[in-house]
Amino acid sequence: MMPTSINAEALAEAPIPHHTKQTVDPYNVAGEVGEDGVVKAIDYKKLVEEFGTKLIDKELLERFERVTGQKPHRFMRRGIAFSHRELDVILDRYEKGEPFFLYTGRGPSSDSMHIGHTVPFEFTKWLQDVFDVPLVIMMTDDEKYLFSDKRTIEEVQGYTAANAKDIIAIGFDPKKTFIFSDWDFMGGAFYKNVSRMSKHITLNQARAIFGFDNSSNIGKVHFGAIQGATAFANTFPHIFGDDEKRTTQIPCLIPCAIDQDPYFRMTRDVASRLHFAKPSLIHARFLDALQGPGSKMSASIDSSAIFMRDTPKQIKDKINKYAFSGGRVSVEEHREKGGDTTKDVPYQYLTFFLEDDEELEQIRKDYSEGKMLTGEIKAKCTEELQVYVKGFQERRAKVTDETVKEFMSQRKLEWRGNPRAPTV
Ligand code: TYM
Ligand code: TRP
Repeated sequence: MMPTSINAEALAEAPIPHHTKQTVDPYNVAGEVGEDGVVKAIDYKKLVEEFGTKLIDKELLERFERVTGQKPHRFMRRGIAFSHRELDVILDRYEKGEPFFLYTGRGPSSDSMHIGHTVPFEFTKWLQDVFDVPLVIMMTDDEKYLFSDKRTIEEVQGYTAANAKDIIAIGFDPKKTFIFSDWDFMGGAFYKNVSRMSKHITLNQARAIFGFDNSSNIGKVHFGAIQGATAFANTFPHIFGDDEKRTTQIPCLIPCAIDQDPYFRMTRDVASRLHFAKPSLIHARFLDALQGPGSKMSASIDSSAIFMRDTPKQIKDKINKYAFSGGRVSVEEHREKGGDTTKDVPYQYLTFFLEDDEELEQIRKDYSEGKMLTGEIKAKCTEELQVYVKGFQERRAKVTDETVKEFMSQRKLEWRGNPRAPTV
């Protein structure tokens, strides 16, 4: 039975693409469109098979807990951080006290980040606290300029400045975190690694991986070399020193949503040929657009997203107006048959943002048994997101231009790694 509580206006604005097959790459995310014309949820198992990544299973979670002494983050417990490439290699190194670093990034495409963007960043902050290692955060201003017909350089620079504040407000430790913009940091060791990368990628490979064609601008074709080169520790001599024999062997762990995997599949391939350490990855699922499963929340479609700058009222209105519901048409039917939590956007958002496992399980039970109504789950979701966004905004208000300068300056970082490991 089709839930009908989504209104016509929301449907008309819904970012539902008319692909037939599922597409997931850095530029497009869309679920399969079935024969009934309905967009299906992203099939993450299929992605794991197609991309050749591994599911994060119970065994790996147990090992994570043993090695770090930390209960896995709710994203890991709930299969939101669901897939990986060689996370075990990073755990081996942590165990032995061997160096590694964290790397993540943001393409500054709008003046405020949305709650979906904070997923990999929240997770990265937690990993930084757990591992106590350096973190580099790349702002791909070049990418967002090259991949848009409309944005100007000045506009993207404005987004970078605003987004850097958003990222800092997540709570990263300035002693261990270097944030950079591609336009500002390019040169020196970074550019040498970009050249090493680009020399080992043919046009045929770039076309096959990213789907470029003869009319794609050459900046797009080249960009993957830039996002990839950041995965090498010798790109950052101010953090790791100049001894390339040593630094080329320090791997990173990249937390990101799975759309970014194509860049790093290519990077891992080039790393092998350069005899550099290959990056490891942890992939997260997408936070759905408000309009429902089968799409991702996107900063360029205003009605699809809850932004970190939204007011409590805007959050409430967006959830009430746009959030796709897995509830039934009438209260009677809902009480009798219960709601569908697999499609219900407010429930899905709660799985991302509600910390308490028991409370979440109670909501799942009550909603699917019809004890909890659509209006009630929407109210709960609204309340949680209002608290989350408010906390963020309070931290954001304290981030000054000076703070941004500090995070973005090339300087030595301080970290400890695993205090229980044998010293290396
Ligand atoms: P960008 O700015 O599109 O996205 C930033 C990060 O957020 C993830 N993401 C999402 N996660 C959950 N739900 C969503 N709806 C959602 N939308 C986006 C992205 O996967 C990403 O992790 N090219 C990159 C910037 C980049 C980068 C990196 C990202 C450079 N190096 C290394 C991750 C790791 C970009 O445009 O991301
Ligand atoms: N002994 C390491 C070194 O030679 C220091 C270290 C221990 C480390 N654990 C780490 C560095 C984790 C980075 C990440 O630098």
